[in-house]
Amino acid sequence: RTARFTLDPAFTVGDVSPRLFGSFVEHLGRCVYTGVFEPGHPAADAEGIRTDVLDLVRELGVTAVRYPGGNFVSGHRWEDSVGPVEDRPRRLDLAWRSTETNRFGLSEFMAFLRKIGPHTEPMMAVNLGTRGVAEALELQEYANHPSGTALADLRAAHGDADPFGIRLWCLGNEMDGPWQTGHKTAVEYGRLAAETARAMRQLDPSVELVACGSSSRSMPTFAAWEATVLAETYELVDHVSLHAYYEPEDGDVDSFLASAVDMESFIENVVATCDHVGARLKSAKRIDLSFDEWNVWYASKWHEIENSTARDWPEAPRLLEDGYSVLDAVVLGSLLIALLRHADRVAVACLAQLVNVIAPIMTEPGGPAWRQTTFFPFAQASRHGRGRVLDVRVDSPTYGTRKYGETDLLHATAVRAEDGTVTVFAVNRARTAALPLEVTLHGLDLTRVTEHTVLSDPDPDARNTLADPERVTPHRAEGTVLADGTLGAVLEPLSWNVIRLA
Ligand code: AHR
Repeated sequence: RTARFTLDPAFTVGDVSPRLFGSFVEHLGRCVYTGVFEPGHPAADAEGIRTDVLDLVRELGVTAVRYPGGNFVSGHRWEDSVGPVEDRPRRLDLAWRSTETNRFGLSEFMAFLRKIGPHTEPMMAVNLGTRGVAEALELQEYANHPSGTALADLRAAHGDADPFGIRLWCLGNEMDGPWQTGHKTAVEYGRLAAETARAMRQLDPSVELVACGSSSRSMPTFAAWEATVLAETYELVDHVSLHAYYEPEDGDVDSFLASAVDMESFIENVVATCDHVGARLKSAKRIDLSFDEWNVWYASKWHEIENSTARDWPEAPRLLEDGYSVLDAVVLGSLLIALLRHADRVAVACLAQLVNVIAPIMTEPGGPAWRQTTFFPFAQASRHGRGRVLDVRVDSPTYGTRKYGETDLLHATAVRAEDGTVTVFAVNRARTAALPLEVTLHGLDLTRVTEHTVLSDPDPDARNTLADPERVTPHRAEGTVLADGTLGAVLEPLSWNVIRLA
């Protein structure tokens, strides 16, 4: 049977925040060292930034980069990461049982962002694990105060005369998780986050602050955590964070393909919790969502080796280097669709992470950089998913899943750009059957299909590797037509589709 929906510009979800296409650089494994930064690499510039990686980051279309963690931030001493490199201390990183050399720090990160281009902004996390209000303020002053104070002048003495102008700040990371250094109860964290937020706003009322929500929807404290934290911080913060990672459990690929069902209801749960707290406080303010860690992550493989002695404080070890298949890329595309479908409340989202660590970009030390399969849906969504999301209600054939019951085979959204062109993003979750699609267009002045690209492969396990870095790329679909206000297409089995209409 044919899957169908209607597009009408009178029915919209909301405008896409450019920050929806953020990513994440953590001092973890080889994300920074031999990922972003590798002095001596043939492609490294004078500052040690890999220009081959920079080119791919630009192509990926990343708009915000969260830094420096992640779990790493909960033991981070920001002052170790600034000043003359030769004076920077080597530190134990408890989060990943690694040694942090601090050769790459705040100034290097800001230089990396500037090199990506003017449309990429930092999202800086402060340590609320081992540290508190005073250190957050010191970092904020060092980073943002123009001049004339000890810390602003120290930054200038370190070579950065101009303030970094960091607007977006995370108040800690995953503080609900018992694995987090300095883990806290919701009340403890809520109070600390509130006082840190109050102080940071005293320094600069224009900062945007993200309070930690739950580290996953499956945490026993989920929703209660958000409600308690927001009761303390509601008028002081702008966003609450969400984190979610997906992988097939017990080989259940059909449920894995429907991961976005979980992501969408997670978003809806958090929206409901935020609005409930707002109602209780009789507040006119609205809290938006920062989905600042999301991805496919084969985390169960990681948990098997997590406590092995092989991880005794190495520098830049190979950690969390998942190689992504076509199946993973289709799921990631569907997660992007889920974020776009909630563009009215998801103001920030960060694909975790950017290079080597569960990443769309891989590198070999001294060798090449390449695109994983998951690179393509992200890059296409960032390029074509700008504008206003149209309200898409699909009428789709379904399939049975163990985790989510009967689920639509079609997952889709559409974004209307300022110039009136529309891009449809669609996933066919059927593993073996093509899915005919019919889209009725109302009130849209569109006459032709400018492009229909597909990511699919006869082998759903196909992936790009060091030996074969271009095994998987999107290809053009044939036979997609727009005639008399109706778009007709056939979506290949297990596929991510981008259909552009003008
Ligand atoms: O992205 C990897 C890790 O996942 C992050 O450090 C942490 O915040 C999350 O648990």
